[in-house]
Amino acid sequence: MQATAIAQPNIALIKYWGKRDLALNLPAVGSISITLDTLQTKVSIDLDGWLANDSLIVNGVEDPGRLSRMTACLDNVLGVKRPSALIETQSNFPIAAGLASSASAFAAATLAAVAAASIDLDTQSLARLAGRASGSAARSFFGGFAELENCQDAIKLSSLCDAESWPLKVVVAITETGPKGTSSTEAMEISRKTSPFYSAWIERQVDDLATARKAIEERDFTTLAAVAEHNCLKMHSVMWASRPPIVFWNAATMRCLQTVRRLQQDGCHVFFTIDAGPQVKAVCQEEDMAAVRDALSKTAGVLEIMTTGLGPAAHLVGKS
Ligand code: DP6
Repeated sequence: MQATAIAQPNIALIKYWGKRDLALNLPAVGSISITLDTLQTKVSIDLDGWLANDSLIVNGVEDPGRLSRMTACLDNVLGVKRPSALIETQSNFPIAAGLASSASAFAAATLAAVAAASIDLDTQSLARLAGRASGSAARSFFGGFAELENCQDAIKLSSLCDAESWPLKVVVAITETGPKGTSSTEAMEISRKTSPFYSAWIERQVDDLATARKAIEERDFTTLAAVAEHNCLKMHSVMWASRPPIVFWNAATMRCLQTVRRLQQDGCHVFFTIDAGPQVKAVCQEEDMAAVRDALSKTAGVLEIMTTGLGPAAHLVGKS
């Protein structure tokens, strides 16, 4: 009744922002993402039931603050009559800082829980269960480029291109290490209820998804870059126009954007994307990675740089 799984975070190029069903955590829009390689979260779940209640250990430290969300995830996956669980998670990158740590944690937790309970589920069902805990977690069940379709009553995941077929690189510029103030879940609801741009955001998503899907199919970096930057800035505009405003950026975030623009003017194949946090992810072609890394590391306010390629789907690493 024990299992361990690893999942990589994924970064959306066409973003999920907004829910159409809060209780079922169904997204209001489809999304397209890339699953990363070297960043990862390992989750071990022990269902031997020797604990009176669930216990969560995050990076070696007991974490009661995050326990209720993990308990809800396991209840949804295994049912409420399950034995209590000891859950241990280990991430090799900053968590809750806009680096998609909830995506990798809930994808790995879902997979480990199902394996620990010896339940046999296909990828689509696993993705739906993980997506209930955190929308973006569903996408970590495919490596490379994945699309999450927003169907009538459920989500549907498909692979657009595997990691080896278009081996782009991602340079992550960390501009702040503390956890963020507002969670994505909370911020999305504020946007849905108050942003005057929210309905336009939802309406236009279909076009951005189609453009990105075709660009990925044709390995057309320039078109993908333009639509991904546009979609990212549009999502942040929705947030900025919310009341209260939701601004995840800091001064260094903006400086990183300027660095990316300068690199583009110098002929580098690179584009930026930013999620619910101040970190900047620069997606680039392999031959430009050294220049992108160098320029971002010299940008004022950048505290740390991480580089990664595109990686695999969530996978099991142990079971007993
Ligand atoms: C900006 O998946 O963290 O990263 O479903 O409420 O857990 P919940 O939200 P979450 O939101 C991700 C938001 C985003 C865009 C994206 O990853 O698509």
